[in-house]
Amino acid sequence: MEPKKVLYSAIQPTGIITIGNYAGAIANWLKVQDDYTSIYAIADLHALTVRQVPQEFRQRALSFFAQYLAVGLDPEKSVIYFQSHVPFHTELQWLLNCYTYVGEMTRMTQFKDKSQKNADNINMGLLDYPVLMAADILLYQSAFVPVGADQKQHLEITRDIAIRFNNLYGETFVVPEPYIAKQGARIFSLQDPTAKMSKSDPDPNAAVSIIEDADSIMRKFKRAVTDCDSVVEFREDKPAISNLLTIFSAMTDRSVESLVNEYHDLGYRRFKHDLGEAVVERFAPVRERYLKLMNDKGYLSEVARQGAERAGRMAYKTVAKVKRKIGLVQP
Ligand code: TYM
Repeated sequence: MEPKKVLYSAIQPTGIITIGNYAGAIANWLKVQDDYTSIYAIADLHALTVRQVPQEFRQRALSFFAQYLAVGLDPEKSVIYFQSHVPFHTELQWLLNCYTYVGEMTRMTQFKDKSQKNADNINMGLLDYPVLMAADILLYQSAFVPVGADQKQHLEITRDIAIRFNNLYGETFVVPEPYIAKQGARIFSLQDPTAKMSKSDPDPNAAVSIIEDADSIMRKFKRAVTDCDSVVEFREDKPAISNLLTIFSAMTDRSVESLVNEYHDLGYRRFKHDLGEAVVERFAPVRERYLKLMNDKGYLSEVARQGAERAGRMAYKTVAKVKRKIGLVQP
């Protein structure tokens, strides 16, 4: 039997895990856990490209890890770990740095955005961020990377780096494919349907977390902005309602079409109320499991330890291969 292909993804522990992260990435992770060797990281090293308060950062990273488990990732089926626990990520990053051009990095949209937002802290990490991401993915010989649409450019550069290296040294890396949801790959803010729903939006009404309590979820959907008229339809000139329809569909696995059929003439109030309830229903058990897990730090660190051990064994093989191909003296 052919070995299962590898699927890899990660989330940075910044802000909150939003229903956008869920719709764009996690929902797909849950669907394919059985079909691939799946590896999911907390990308804590990536989060260091912006300043973090140490105590809060540690707490948040652990909370994100517990949320991975609470939302349904199963450590018996998948490798779940902290990126910073496996030193091969940064080792491969250095090696790949030497095969990546500065011009490629300065052209990255996210680099340009983040440089603007953090004009007083345009550090080397910000520029080198995509190479660390390429190292994450290539270390595990990943075939598929389920992400939201905003990560597509980083996947393209990862492929370019892999192909470039393979051309120079012969087949070394599997060239990964992005795995982007048809629906839900880009969820927008509840307050501004032209802006991506961001984990770190300063406006608390813009995003909903996957462990949020019911009252707060209902309140945020009630306050969500809508379009001018009052029909529930998926249309380009109705970005707010189209976004809410996408969220509704992602939470319930119902098609947008069937939702439009049901809610077309029922008005926004009713539509937003039912959407809020669907989100509450989807995430109430996640919240409950999360609160239990956060009371069992011993279990969390044991799962993390085992995850890092499994990941480390896989990553070691790739780094050894790369070093051999490049011509470094074997230890
Ligand atoms: P991050 O932490 O910003 O986001 C995590 C995942 O959620 C997706 N996403 C969205 N999807 C739909 N609508 C949205 N509004 C939305 N916002 C975010 C993202 O596309 C992503 O899939 N660099 C990555 C983390 C990373 C990574 C990796 C991903 C590090 N190494 C290796 C894949 C493979 C990031 O910052 O994602």
